[in-house]
Amino acid sequence: MPAPQPTLLATAPDASPASSPLAQHVLQGLSRQPRALSSMYFYDEVGSQLFQQIMALPEYYPTRTEFGLLTQHRQAISQALTPADGQPFHLLELGAGDGLKTKILLRELLDRNTRFTYAPVDISPSAVEGLATSLRTELPTLQVQPLVAEYTTALAELHGQPGRKAVLFLGSTIGNFPPAERQQFLGALAAQLGPDDRLLIGFDLRKGPRQIRAAYDDAQGVTAAFNLNLLTRINRELGADFDLAAWEHFADYDPQTGAMRSFLVSNRAQTVHIAALERTFAFEAWEAIHTENSFKFTPPQIEALAAAAGLRVQQVFSDEQQWFADVLLAPLS
Ligand code: AVJ
Repeated sequence: MPAPQPTLLATAPDASPASSPLAQHVLQGLSRQPRALSSMYFYDEVGSQLFQQIMALPEYYPTRTEFGLLTQHRQAISQALTPADGQPFHLLELGAGDGLKTKILLRELLDRNTRFTYAPVDISPSAVEGLATSLRTELPTLQVQPLVAEYTTALAELHGQPGRKAVLFLGSTIGNFPPAERQQFLGALAAQLGPDDRLLIGFDLRKGPRQIRAAYDDAQGVTAAFNLNLLTRINRELGADFDLAAWEHFADYDPQTGAMRSFLVSNRAQTVHIAALERTFAFEAWEAIHTENSFKFTPPQIEALAAAAGLRVQQVFSDEQQWFADVLLAPLS
């Protein structure tokens, strides 16, 4: 029998060792030039709350646009996700978040008496359990099967279970990947799909550059707080001493590549000590850490991305202004 663990050890502020994924990531990201940290680590408790506030901002159009197009096209989308033979299927969702957008489709499918199981996928058990619990009360007839897994291994977990797998990846989270990783990710997903399986992916489309930039640099400074919270998280979890007053949020859009990029800029020369890494990092005045990509797409680019992953675009669901698209993909052949 293992010795009981002293509770103090598990809850100490320096509980995150140098080997934790965050520590390893920060070591790598701050040791390279130019410096970069992944937006994957934005979403601690405060970060997730700030993202909820971002979605309600007047400048942040993606969420309400996708919500609108899902509402408008909910019948056609539900029909496209459901197998023609009416057999039960699995509806997987990668990164469901609060599930507000998904509920439009879930309600529609339930109203049509569709036989399906909804499987929200996340590496965080609390994220999927929270959503599953809220769905059990809100949609009591829905069959929910939360999956705690990496996105690309979630499909493998359902391998051998009969029926179509329809995979949702909404919200334009695919825009967070740089091009090579984006292609690799879609290829890895596609490799797990059978001929009758489907993917529905949200893409934020190219539009006026000022509109895009404003969505990531809002007047109230919520996005700035969201970006800066990454440093607060590193201070807390890795015992770092980032001085928040010495860093500025900066966001810029490149209309040629569709790259919407966010940075944290050091407004003076400074050093930062990170206890968990036993390392000090020096930053020059106006040196920047790249913290996020939110790529914007053209329809031909989406076609090419799909084709290179062995997929074809089956249907495109968009809003009247063509600001956002939920694209239905199927395996080639
Ligand atoms: C959740 C990744 C879709 O990139 O638009 C919002 C995150 N970052 N404002 C996005 C985000 C800054 C968002 N995604």
